[in-house]
Amino acid sequence: MTLKQTLSLLAGLIVASPIALAEPEVPVNLPKFKEGQYVHHAPTVEDLKNDDSINPELKKVILKGRDMFMNTQQFRGKYVFNDLNCKSCHLGEGRMNWSAPIWPAATTLPDYRGKNHHVNSLEERIAGCFSFSMNGKPPAYGSDDMLAMVAYHQWLAKGAPVYEKNIGGRGFSHLGKEAPELDFARGKAVYQENCAICHGENGQGQRKNGEVVFPPLWGDGSYNWGAGMTRVFTAASFIKNNMPLGKPGSLSDDDAWQVANFINSHERPQDPRYTGDVKETREKYMNFHKFTNYGTVVNGTLLGDHDNTGTKPFLKPDVLRPRTFE
Ligand code: HEC
Ligand code: HEC
Repeated sequence: MTLKQTLSLLAGLIVASPIALAEPEVPVNLPKFKEGQYVHHAPTVEDLKNDDSINPELKKVILKGRDMFMNTQQFRGKYVFNDLNCKSCHLGEGRMNWSAPIWPAATTLPDYRGKNHHVNSLEERIAGCFSFSMNGKPPAYGSDDMLAMVAYHQWLAKGAPVYEKNIGGRGFSHLGKEAPELDFARGKAVYQENCAICHGENGQGQRKNGEVVFPPLWGDGSYNWGAGMTRVFTAASFIKNNMPLGKPGSLSDDDAWQVANFINSHERPQDPRYTGDVKETREKYMNFHKFTNYGTVVNGTLLGDHDNTGTKPFLKPDVLRPRTFE
């Protein structure tokens, strides 16, 4: 075989195994893509540098957005009030399949979202993760910082079909929504065995020289009660495919569910949609909270029954307003 033939054979093999292409350092013990799904290979920073079709000014803005995504803590006390970065949950720079790659938001929005019952823009979707996952206050719509975030998301979507919703590796939800029987003590055992070494005995995470190296999983430094990750099914799939870090896919499905239930049975900052009454808030957002332990009694304590907003000095950022066209 000539060198050229060998190379084209190799290229064919790489195309045939999208998981390996998406993230070569990850073991391939991940779910398979379904027949007919669109599988995206988000570009890398290297691709950006080599892409002459993108104006150098735009490159700067995209890289700024990437920097905000990777090191969101630089905006601690401004946009972020917990210990997380965007990349804490969207692994591999937000590019990675099975770790809620962020680019689909750029190709599927504007669209209707059940979470807030109206048509959302890409800016609004990003604002949602700031408000809930980061327990924060999003950059203003139309601001330079928001533009940079949007530019990063949209560039990652380069080449993907607009409005295609049948996307392989999107979100975290491949284990489905149907939970097995959940048991706090079993989840605790899985946690101590597989997670505590990095995330701490009390879920507090670990810092080194003031910097968060392992993010907290509950408490004031974690995501708040309105974040997607508080849904046990969402956390279960995230954990199954991404944790323990470096060993994705190694937990049994049941262990992933049990540990997801365990971490989401601990206190965290209040849901920004809080009405002042946890039971009422749970009822009002039941389409969301039916998947969380918020407003339920675990080990004799009513979860979420408090005014604690963590280190954030307010409950609700202004942008979480209903949008109507009447
Ligand atoms: C605590 C974990 C967490 C953090 C931190 C986080 N997110 Fe998310 N993000 C989620 C979850 C959960 C979803 C919903 C995934 C699903 O549908 O299964 C999501 C979804 C998204 C989506 C939509 C993806 C799609 O498929 O349409 C975007 C865009 C996004 N996040 C951006 C961000 C940005 C920007 C930040 C930082 C400001 C951030 N996220 C921080 C958990 C997080
Ligand atoms: C080897 C260290 C390590 C182990 C073990 C580990 N994690 Fe993580 N985990 C991380 C790091 C680091 C991140 C953030 C990823 C990043 O910033 O790139 C993370 C992120 C997370 C997140 C999303 C961010 C947050 O703080 O909410 C959750 C949830 C999570 N881990 C749960 C678990 C669970 C459950 C286990 C045990 C099954 C586990 N992890 C085991 C290192 C680890």
